Formats: sequence, C-alpha cells, structure tokens
Amino acid sequence: MAESEYPRSLQGLKGVEVYPDAVSLARAAVEHFVALAAEAISTRGRFAVALAGGSTPRATYRLLAADEFAARVDWRHVHVFWGDERCVPPDHPDSNYRMARQTLLDAVPLPADNVHRIQGEMEPTRAAAQYERTLRAFFSSSAGGRDAGNEETPARFDLVLLGMGGDGHTASLFPGTMAIGEQTRWVVAHHVEKLSAWRVTLTPVAINAAANVTFLVSGAGKAERLQQVLAGPYRPDVLPAQIVRPGRGRLRWLVDAAAAALL
Ligand code: 6PG
Repeated sequence: MAESEYPRSLQGLKGVEVYPDAVSLARAAVEHFVALAAEAISTRGRFAVALAGGSTPRATYRLLAADEFAARVDWRHVHVFWGDERCVPPDHPDSNYRMARQTLLDAVPLPADNVHRIQGEMEPTRAAAQYERTLRAFFSSSAGGRDAGNEETPARFDLVLLGMGGDGHTASLFPGTMAIGEQTRWVVAHHVEKLSAWRVTLTPVAINAAANVTFLVSGAGKAERLQQVLAGPYRPDVLPAQIVRPGRGRLRWLVDAAAAALL
C-alpha cells in the first residue's frame, strides 16, 4: 500500500489503526500522546498516563523525548505511572521504570514528584498495596480530578498505554492468572509461573476505568495472536488482552502492518 493510504483502518475492527512500519507506528503513538496530553491538561489541568513496559514502546518514548515533540507537552502537568512492573530494583535492567527513565523521563522537564513508580524493590504484595494507595490518593485529590459527587472515585487515567505479549498477555495479566478476574483491587502482585517471577500489575478494574486505553503492537511475531485477540472468540483467561474493554473510555490499537498481517 502507498504510504498515503495509512493509517489503514480495518473493516469491523473499531479503533484499530494500521501503520506501515515500527517507525511510523512510534510517530503515530507520539502524536496520540501529545494530543491527549493537551486535551487533558486544558480540560482537567493534568494528564495522568500509565506507561507500558517491554520493548515495543521504547521507540515511542525515545521519539517523544526528542525536542520537536517534547516541546509540545506541558510536562509540569503530566503525572507518570506504570501499567505494571517487574519486582526488581529501579536500576535493574528488567525494570520498566528504568527503561522509561532512560528513554524518556531523563530527557523531559517532568517534576520529580510527578513520577509515581511501582516500588519493585519492595516485597511484592507491599509494593502493590503501596501503589494502590498512591493511585487512590491521586485520583481522589484535586490533582487527580476528584469527581466530588462520586464516592467511589475510579482510577480514571487519561491514558493507559499497553503492549501485548506473544501469548496475548497485557500489562502483567498473564494467561491463567487470577489477576484477570480481579473485581475490586486496582493493583495486585502475583507470582507468574511461566516467568518464575513476581510482577505488580494494574488490574482490569483500573485499566478499564481509563478515559483512553491504547495498545501498541509491532512485528510479525504478534500477528497470529493479534488476530485471535481482535477477531477470535472472547476468552480472556487464555488471551488476557481481551479483558481490556474500557467502560467509559476509548480503546485503540495502534499496530504496524507486520502485526496486522492476518487481520
Ligand atoms: C512488561 C509489559 C508487557 C509488555 C508485553 C509486550 O512489563 O513486559 O508490561 O505487558 O507490554 O510483554 O512486550 P514487548 O513490547 O517487548 O513485545
């Protein structure tokens, strides 16, 4: 397809935007971030974003840190959170916080108090409880956009960025784990058998309360799973990315042509 025919939308797959390659996907993701940040800051005075981990978003974060884009975000009013974290110290090579700091946060004028990391160095269940307290305090405060009339303030992120693993997991909601069915807590810690590792993750309760949830999926290796997630039967226990259905928010999939090859 000619470059001009992108982004391609797909018949019957609402919210899916296909870009020719990983570079144009990253650029589209940056423009999306910048636009949502401007809208949130102008209407609510803040932009609360939960970053995705893994490797796909690295290109987006690096591009967002470049002057031409970073200058278009009013970082004073941005609050950065994470969708999940590995249970490792913040300077560990596996840390999602470390990856975001290296690719984005160290390059933009974001106030230190606006960085709300998951304390991966802490005992996992304590780290999850601590992060949930942080979220509940933020979203019930004026900064978080307290909805005065609403007792049970939801975790209303302006944007949750997510990736999708080759097994259909997202955040650290892995196939066959109890976290997929969590109905109350916003954050849980669990030992993921297939990784032999502990993870702290937002639950579907918090993810699906967001105003915008955007997946970034790239590469031929994700094509089969993406087709199953988007066009196959609904079975979130096997394909946890399917549990993401924001009740009062917009769901988008920004994908490249290689990942969309079977759609
Ligand atoms: C993590 C992520 C995880 C990631 C997927 C996709 O901590 O690893 O939160 O959900 O988004 O595994 O990872 P890639 O982008 O590396 O394929």
